[in-house]
Amino acid sequence: MVLALAIIGIVILAAIALFAASRRSDANSAISAETRKRDQSRVAAGAIGVEEEVTGREVEKAAALERRQGDLVAFDESEIEPWVAPDPEAIGVARRQFLNRSIIGMFGFALSGFGAAVIAQLWPGASEGFGSAINVGEVGDVRAQITAANGFLYRPEGRMWVTEYPSGALEKAAVEYGDTAAWPGIEAGFMALFQKCPHLGCRVPECGSSQFFECPCHGSFYNQVGEKRGGPAPRGMDFFAMSISNGNLVVDTGNIIGGQSIGVNTTGQEREGPSCLGASSH
Ligand code: FES
Repeated sequence: MVLALAIIGIVILAAIALFAASRRSDANSAISAETRKRDQSRVAAGAIGVEEEVTGREVEKAAALERRQGDLVAFDESEIEPWVAPDPEAIGVARRQFLNRSIIGMFGFALSGFGAAVIAQLWPGASEGFGSAINVGEVGDVRAQITAANGFLYRPEGRMWVTEYPSGALEKAAVEYGDTAAWPGIEAGFMALFQKCPHLGCRVPECGSSQFFECPCHGSFYNQVGEKRGGPAPRGMDFFAMSISNGNLVVDTGNIIGGQSIGVNTTGQEREGPSCLGASSH
């Protein structure tokens, strides 16, 4: 969002600069034309007689002579290039070239900004938010935060829920989950679940009373580790690869693992209270 606003700002500034440059160029050429016209009319009217006309070179020579009290340094006038009036056609071409190059440059600049934004969006590891590896925190702290959040720790930067994986279910998990990239985290007692419902993509909130995840869109519901317990969803909630690094839980939100098949229920958890469906708690 910030990048998009920056690109729009740059494009507007470039357009203003281009407009100002074009106005200045027009004003200069208008002044030059007006000056030439006035000089021509003065000569035609005899205000400047051909006989009386004093050239700039003569004025300079007189001034130098005066300054040096007659000690005028001689110079060879043949070395001075005669002044040639600029070709109006050439000036017009130069202006058109300037405008064309400005427009091309502006478009090139805007396109490169747009390209950079697209690459940043598509390259998961390029940012520190969703799509990158997120350090959730020290294992003990994370566990305490989950408890403080009534069993469901939400981390918006990873679009994920972090819950506890019961140690008593690890034996079954070893069979069902196998050697997934999330296993080190599961073994340490965690599950990091993608918030997106595997049915049609709604965000799945937790339900404090039932201690399940309950999707408000079509009623799918899942236990605390994301295994499907009911509703139209084709599988359990997707989850992320996890690792333990220097005592910290690290969740790789760029590595999404498909949810468990229907019927997998490693924890055996049942509803612990009324459902929240129809009254989402988030
Ligand atoms: S999107 Fe969640 S049940 Fe349909």
